[in-house]
Amino acid sequence: MKKLLASVLAGTMALSMVACGGSSASSAPAAASSAPAAASSAAASVAESVPAGGTVGVCIYKFDDAFMTTYRNALTKILEDKGYTVTCVDGNNDQAKQTEQINTFITQGVDALIVNPVMTSAADSIIAAVKDADIPTVLINREPTAEQMAAYDKLVYVGCDARQSGTMQGELILDTETKGDINGDGVVKYIMIQGDPENVDAQYRTEFSVKALEDAGVKVEQLDLQRGDWDRNKGQEIAQTDLAKFGDDIEVVFCNNDDMAIGALQAIQAAGRTVNKDIYLVGVDALDAALNEVSNGNMTGTVLNDAEGQASQAVVCMEELLGGKTYAEGEQSVYVDYVKVTPENVSEFKK
Ligand code: GAL
Repeated sequence: MKKLLASVLAGTMALSMVACGGSSASSAPAAASSAPAAASSAAASVAESVPAGGTVGVCIYKFDDAFMTTYRNALTKILEDKGYTVTCVDGNNDQAKQTEQINTFITQGVDALIVNPVMTSAADSIIAAVKDADIPTVLINREPTAEQMAAYDKLVYVGCDARQSGTMQGELILDTETKGDINGDGVVKYIMIQGDPENVDAQYRTEFSVKALEDAGVKVEQLDLQRGDWDRNKGQEIAQTDLAKFGDDIEVVFCNNDDMAIGALQAIQAAGRTVNKDIYLVGVDALDAALNEVSNGNMTGTVLNDAEGQASQAVVCMEELLGGKTYAEGEQSVYVDYVKVTPENVSEFKK
């Protein structure tokens, strides 16, 4: 079955490259050159049903999000390099707006959709709409439940298992000289700056970062937990207020993402505190700014949220769907691994 799919895809890609005038040889997938001259009739009929150089609608929950900007750019480039016509729209963090955008794509008859939902609670209606229109759909970045996805077998989620990133954040703290207990009183006191809690990434990172410490037998005390909605300014404000309130009691600042951690770092520095000396700071994403701060010692560490890896996996899944693949219930989540980033390995992640 895998082989058949591969040849279907190779055939599909060969067709689309021809139709689009295939910009450069390097953008053609390796498989295309080994595509059989005449695909089997079954494969050919599937391939023919996919318009060459098809149209893809991409819905992003909001453009003004640091990580999703990197992701969106990577995704658009991969699709365009492959000859697809891509329309990428900004949901402005407004589910009603995004629902309208999805409906517009459906009316236009796009060949495939890639959707980063604004609200995972809206997944049911999104899935019902794309199913009704029979449009192969890849959901990204905000994971609905397996039950929600089971409603449509031409739908797959590509993302990461956020529990892994939370655990890695906890490990980054456990790897420090004091295991997070800077003042040596036997309790790690922390503040948690959370992303949008509607998103499982925020829920799991919050839970599993602390769980890693507890599982290692470390006592913890949460001084504060506030939602910063993935936003740098909010991260800065929350950290500033907490530093004024709890002062030296704060030993660890957990941020669900790097953009909030960069904001928190500004507050930490303004309060005269020094990361890795009298306070620890961790994020997730491995944004360029965070990689620099990890190198400079101003962040304890971060976790790579692999935008390129997820974007290319999303395109692989989209092409499989276009080639006729369906996904069984319980097998609709495809995960890309997170990677721990420390001062020791940070240079490997810098571009
Ligand atoms: C997370 C990422 C955050 C934010 C969020 C949006 O995976 O770490 O920075 O982009 O997705 O849903």
